[in-house]
Amino acid sequence: MLIVFEGIDGSGKTTQAKILARRLNDLGLKASYSKEPTEGVIGRFIRQEVLTNGQITDPRAVALLYAADRSTHLNSVVFSEDVINIFDRFYYSSVAYQGALGVPIDYILKVNSFAPKPDLVFLMDIDPTLGLKRLNRFDRFENIETLIKVREIYLNLAKQYGMIVIDATKSVEEISNKIIGVVEETRSVAKGR
Ligand code: TYD
Repeated sequence: MLIVFEGIDGSGKTTQAKILARRLNDLGLKASYSKEPTEGVIGRFIRQEVLTNGQITDPRAVALLYAADRSTHLNSVVFSEDVINIFDRFYYSSVAYQGALGVPIDYILKVNSFAPKPDLVFLMDIDPTLGLKRLNRFDRFENIETLIKVREIYLNLAKQYGMIVIDATKSVEEISNKIIGVVEETRSVAKGR
């Protein structure tokens, strides 16, 4: 099973992705958390040259770097029947962020066509002003105008791909309970098939 968390910066997706992994492990299930950009060579390069130094600004080049990082991410993860993989960001991040910076969405989807379709996507939705307030760190994507566009694209994607939209202003516990409920329901539906 592949579960993805998406959302703008400061939406709390990392917190929820990690809590879900822990709760599933506590239930005796094998859950594995991983994130993009990865901690691998390409992910580190992105953090350094795109997010920190702003050396690479061409959004199409950036989209291709994220796609390359994603390919290594997928190769580093074990996909098996009894493992629940939890991804903190996936190709929808590229659609939303690089799309917001002008890269055509069709192109982004095309260069990410190697990526499998997740079983569940949670979109942590929050007003970017609130999201930014929760952050204690800024990088180059984290300006309001861009994040407003990013959020808009995410909400369109949610409709198109049937993502579960979560009101990220609710309490951590309330959100986590809702998420575990959806995951358990999806698992039992899948088992019953
Ligand atoms: P983030 O989840 O904030 O990671 P961290 O907290 O470890 O820095 O992601 C870093 C930034 O990368 C974030 O602003 C979104 C951006 N990003 C893209 O623009 N495209 C992508 O495909 C991905 C995966 C991330």
